[in-house]
Amino acid sequence: MADSKLLKMLRDDLVGELNAINQYQAHIDEMSGEAKKTLEHIIADEKEHVAELTKLIRKIDPVESEKFRKEEM
Ligand SMILES: [Fe+2]
Repeated sequence: MADSKLLKMLRDDLVGELNAINQYQAHIDEMSGEAKKTLEHIIADEKEHVAELTKLIRKIDPVESEKFRKEEM
């Protein structure tokens, strides 16, 4: 698979993870008790997925990697 196609798919997946975080957070803000604690655990997993996808994108896209490196300084 060409890198450009792979990157598009990974960026689409990243958007999905970010949208999931926003949706879970909106629900968490309305909840309490066990349901809230469960979604807080799930949202932490989604944030890990964002980090994993971002790491992978950086490995494939040298421009993205350089932008992150520059911002982390
Ligand atoms: Fe996820």
